[in-house]
Formats: sequence, C-alpha cells, structure tokens
Amino acid sequence: TVLVVDFGAQYAQLIARRIREAGVYSEIVPSSVSAEEILEREPAAVVLSGGPSSVYAEGAPQVDPTLFEGGVPAFGICYGFQAMAQSLGGTVAHTGGREYGRTPLTVTTGGRLFGDLPVEQPVWMSHGDAVSAPPPGFTVTATSSGAPVAAFEDVDRRLAGVQFHPEVRHTAHGQTVLEHFLFDIAGLEPTWTAANVVEEQVERIRAQVGEGRALCALSGGVDSAVAAALVQRAIGDRLTCVYVDHGLMREGETEQIERDFVAVTRVDLRVVDARERFLGALAGISDPEEKRKTIGREFIRVFEQAALDVVGDAADHGERVDFLVQGTLYPDVVESGGGTGTANIKSHHNVGGLPEDLQFTLVEPLRTLFKDEVRAVGVELRLPEAMVWRQPFPGPGLGIRIVGEVTQERLDVLRQADAIVRAELTAAGLDREIWQCPVVLLADVRSVGVQGDGRTYGHPVVLRPVSSEDAMTADWTRLPYDVLARISTRITNEVREVNRVVLDVTSKPPGTIEWE
Ligand code: XMP
Repeated sequence: TVLVVDFGAQYAQLIARRIREAGVYSEIVPSSVSAEEILEREPAAVVLSGGPSSVYAEGAPQVDPTLFEGGVPAFGICYGFQAMAQSLGGTVAHTGGREYGRTPLTVTTGGRLFGDLPVEQPVWMSHGDAVSAPPPGFTVTATSSGAPVAAFEDVDRRLAGVQFHPEVRHTAHGQTVLEHFLFDIAGLEPTWTAANVVEEQVERIRAQVGEGRALCALSGGVDSAVAAALVQRAIGDRLTCVYVDHGLMREGETEQIERDFVAVTRVDLRVVDARERFLGALAGISDPEEKRKTIGREFIRVFEQAALDVVGDAADHGERVDFLVQGTLYPDVVESGGGTGTANIKSHHNVGGLPEDLQFTLVEPLRTLFKDEVRAVGVELRLPEAMVWRQPFPGPGLGIRIVGEVTQERLDVLRQADAIVRAELTAAGLDREIWQCPVVLLADVRSVGVQGDGRTYGHPVVLRPVSSEDAMTADWTRLPYDVLARISTRITNEVREVNRVVLDVTSKPPGTIEWE
C-alpha cells in the first residue's frame, strides 16, 4: 500500500486515484497521523500531498524526519515537497511571490523522475513559498521561474519531490512523473488490478459473513449492482436482493435488472412491484420537495416490508439475516473522516430509516474503491455494459424530471423522449464524455406548434446535458448541432404530446443539474 498523507487540500484523493491508475494500491491518511503510526503500517511508499498552508504558518502541519529514516520511499508534492525539504535540512524561502496555474517547467537533469521526458513542459503550479536550496544528498532536476528548485531526488534513499501537481491533467507528463517515482525510484510493481480486487473482496466478504445471510437493495445503479455481484460471488444464494420497482425508472432499466443482471450473477432477486402504490402516493403533488419526500418515504416503507419478509422467510428455516450490503464508495469514507482505516464510522447504523428492531451489520465491499474502479470491477464480473457505464440517475427517478404532477401518461411520454436521447447520445459515442443528460418534461407548459396541416398544442421537453467531475459543479455540454438536430427531429416525430425540444444552457451554479 502506498499511503498518501493528506495535508488538507482537495488533491489527496486525486493523487490516490492516479497512483491506483498506475496499478499500485493506495490509501489516504490524514496528516494528524504520526510518523510512527504510518511506518507501523509498513507502507510500500509514502506520498505527501499538497496543502493550503505555508510551511511557515503557525500550526502548519510539519513532517517528522523519522518518516524518512525507516528506508520507506517517499514523494513530496507541492506543500508536501516543501515540508519534506524543510524536514530534511533544505531551505524554504518565504518569497512572497506566487506561481499559479499552467507554468513552464525546465528539466535541468533528467534523473529518474523525468527520464527522457521533454526538457520544456507545462505543469500546474499553486504555491507561494518555494524551496531555495535542496536538502543535503538531493539532486535538483527541474526549475521554473518562481521555483528555483522545482523538483529533486535522492535515488539512494529513494526520496523525491516536485513543486508542481503531477496528479492534475494540466500537467502534461504528470502521470509519467508519478510512475517514474513509483517504479523507477520506489521500485514498486503494478499489481493492483480489477481481478485482484475481486479476489481480495470475495475473501473479505467470506471472512466477515461466514455462514450468515445478507440482504441487498438494488437500485439499478452501478454501485449497488457491483456490490451485490461481489457478495453473490462470495456467499452465493445466502444473499437475497430486493429491487423496488417504483415505476419511475427509464425505459428498459427494470428489465435490465430483472433479466440481464440476474442472468449474469444468478443472484436471488425479489422484485417488489410498487408502481401503483407510488403513483397513488404522488397523485396531486407538484411541489418538488414534497415529491422527493413522498418517494423517499414510500421507498423506505416498501423496502422495510420486503426486508421483514426476507428475514421472516429465513426465520422459518431457523436462519437469521444479519448483514446488509451497501455500495459505499471510498470518497464517502474519506469525506466522513474514515480515511485512516482505523475509525469504524457506520458499522451499525440504521440504514435509510430502517426501524430499530431491524438492525444489520453493514457489508461494504466497495469501501476502498473509486467510481472508475467500481466500473472496472463490474466489467471484470461481466455485468451488463449498460449497467456498468450507467450515468448518475437520481433515486427519485423520473418523478423529479416531470415538472408538475406525476401521472402514468406523463411518465410514458418522458420515458419515450428519454430513450431517444439516450440512444442518440450512445450512437454518437458521447456517453463517456458527458456526465449525464437529464431529459425533463414540462408537463404544465404547453406551446403552439404545427405538424402536417394541423395545429398542435403540446409540451416541451428540455435537454440538460452536463459535463462535471463530481456533480458539485457542472457546465452545460456543447453537444454537436447535428446530434441535437437528430434528437429534436426524432422526439417531435415519434413522441405524441411533445412538439418542442429545448436546450438548457445553464451551468451549475446557478442551476442545479436536475430541475427539481
Ligand atoms: P443536482 O440536481 O443537485 O444533482 O445538481 C447533483 C447530482 O445528484 C443527482 N441527484 C440525486 N441522486 N438521489 C440521488 O441518488 C437524489 O435524490 C438526487 N437528486 C439529484 C443528480 O442526478 C446529479 O447527478
């Protein structure tokens, strides 16, 4: 394991992801963890991340030199680079100047870090202070106008560092520099693969669940599907999956779970057909928050009943269902403070409002994985392509993509329009470029149109294609005009009730991705 010490900037997760992309397993630890604790975990290497402070600032996290004395390879990035320099006897100058954004870097001697990469290359910088003299034993390998020492290495001690951010895409050769550290300086091997993840997680699940039984709620999303498939592989039919069909899914999605997912995994699946119930509960409701609350409440009630049924059936055979499978991902774990691997945050919590007497122990096989790794595991498990690459889709489904009251007819109209959009985006090869493309039916709006010889008075649908890294912020995607034209023609020709297609060109903020 490579441990990434998090000095409090947003970069640590990105660094961990890039290291894993290189085929090396990595985890994040907060900078409050002591050097002794880090060394006790016997990391294959340590990476010190960037951070917001100046090494001179009062209370700025320092690096204990002990960290470098145990022979563990170490790589400093930005703040971590300066902290490393200071801790090993180099000089960090309080320059007062700043370098920010894309900056030209000059490689002075290739060394191991740069090898035969170009002498001039663009890198991403974000710093005030700069290292002015390297620690004894280090060779300076690169320089920039604001950073006389922009990179250094001590190959014998397997230590190196860079002032710039190799983990961001703006740094042209960042990934290669990172790999040079991992493979040519630290001497690691790229052994972290999806196949290994599957093998390791299956063993862990077996160890945790033993001869017990588990329950999993399938949502149709990639996380719960991959989590369920892993657990199924580990404990077979001692896993029961529940899928609540609330009738708010897109075309083909329920069939995908009922048929394709089950065909591949042979998982024991119970489908609860709650379509009528949800429609009934949503009748007369137009307010977005009220819709969300209603859908959430009904979902918990239906799932709770299904869970009780599964537990009851097991009890009839003298068995207990003690475990609940959840598709929690690594970013959630890190963000809730669990990155140390020691804190056990929610091992016994009450999932989604399940009642007190239905207590389960959580099984979270994706706890150490990033989203792209979850997809790679899904591919390894041979899950249906459309499930593995499914874009984010909100839990309340199409219910919050109909502006106005949700009815069966409106759902049918939206489903048809949405299916056309998805088919055309897929045909244009754009699925992996856009983050997601909600299609919204403005059910309470009508406009006049003309079709054939007749006047129409139909509804508009809105296309909301967005590009994003994490859904916190987003930009509207500049879809090619010919793709937009095909979508518009097909929808107005094929979907009765829709006579207008409009494009949402709002970024987030100020607009959210969904309309409700
Ligand atoms: P907004 O509309 O807040 O959406 O910009 C951000 C991301 O979250 C998704 N989303 C949801 N996902 N349950 C979910 O599981 C929800 O209630 C929900 N609401 C929004 C949305 O699709 C986007 O990816």
